[in-house]
Amino acid sequence: MRWPAAVVVLALGVLAWSALGAWTAPAVTQPIQFPHKTHVELNLQCTSCHERAERDSVAGRPPTALCLSCHSGGDATEEIKKVQAFEKGGEIPWKRVWRLPPHVYFPHRTHVVVAKVACQACHGPMETLDRPPARPLRTLTMSDCIACHETRDGGVETAARPVAVVAGRPLATDCNACHR
Ligand code: HEC
Ligand code: HEC
Ligand code: HEC
Ligand code: HEC
Ligand code: HEC
Repeated sequence: MRWPAAVVVLALGVLAWSALGAWTAPAVTQPIQFPHKTHVELNLQCTSCHERAERDSVAGRPPTALCLSCHSGGDATEEIKKVQAFEKGGEIPWKRVWRLPPHVYFPHRTHVVVAKVACQACHGPMETLDRPPARPLRTLTMSDCIACHETRDGGVETAARPVAVVAGRPLATDCNACHR
């Protein structure tokens, strides 16, 4: 009997990720020491930089042009000079810190816009960081995801603002909703 390719791929993915320990990834070093705290204190919303979170499954990183709109010209510190090096074009090669195993599907828009879950509920207090996080401040296990989907009262402990979960319908807890 031949296994359907999708099952084999899922099984291999699961094995690889269990072996690695999906969330215990090695420390990440970013190309520029970007401080979230300084920028959130300027009253920039999380979604003014991570604007794809409101319309897409990924949240994305801000385009370098946005950084340069404030940081081009003038006296520059070492870290700002690294930003200005992109004035000739190109995007800053930020690395991913939060990453689920490839067999899990996570839609940001659904959680941010429809369910109105605060970023901090899942990512922790990003607004307090004066340098990029080397590792996720907090992580979600499969049972954290399912706990919130089952109770709809925010099974996740909130770090900053209360989680307002507005879905007025039973949420998917079947495997296929998250594993694709
Ligand atoms: C001025 C733009 C800006 C603002 C405002 C901003 N971010 Fe970011 N964010 C970035 C940049 C640049 C990175 C990549 C460098 C880093 O990790 O610090 C990043 C990285 C992240 C990451 C890590 C993503 C990953 O896995 O690689 C998360 C999570 C995040 N931001 C959440 C937030 C939250 C929550 C807020 C609001 C409290 C916020 N950000 C506000 C620019 C911004
Ligand atoms: C709305 C304007 C604005 C935007 C957009 C912005 N910054 Fe800033 N940034 C500031 C201000 C203001 C400071 C604090 C004063 C300073 O150090 O210049 C700062 C500080 C910094 C610092 C710390 C500088 C140091 O040496 O301590 C870094 C690094 C930085 N920004 C990188 C970025 C990157 C990368 C982006 C794009 C993801 C970005 N900024 C987007 C206004 C902005
Ligand atoms: C319900 C939990 C949850 C909420 C709410 C949430 N995130 Fe995420 N975020 C995640 C998970 C899980 C990942 C890893 C996704 C993956 O690997 O597919 C992630 C990844 C990211 C990443 C890196 C990968 C990417 O998609 O670009 C950024 C940046 C990010 N989130 C920013 C935000 C911001 C900003 C907000 C609020 C506007 C937010 N997140 C709200 C759970 C959440
Ligand atoms: C704090 C609560 C909360 C957490 C934590 C959470 N979710 Fe959700 N999720 C929701 C809500 C609420 C909706 C439905 C929004 C709507 O469409 O009404 C949803 C919808 C979804 C959907 C779309 C399926 C559907 O029935 O609408 C997927 C897929 C999903 N979540 C995956 C995940 C994954 C994967 C995680 C963990 C990494 C996670 N969620 C963590 C609250 C949460
Ligand atoms: C609400 C989203 C969600 C639902 C529903 C869900 N899972 Fe998961 N699952 C996840 C996430 C997120 C991970 C990754 C957890 C981690 O990396 O710690 C995961 C990981 C796994 C793994 C890898 C082993 C592990 O613990 O990391 C297996 C196997 C798995 N799920 C099977 C299932 C089965 C079978 C079902 C249906 C009974 C199911 N999942 C339903 C979100 C979900």
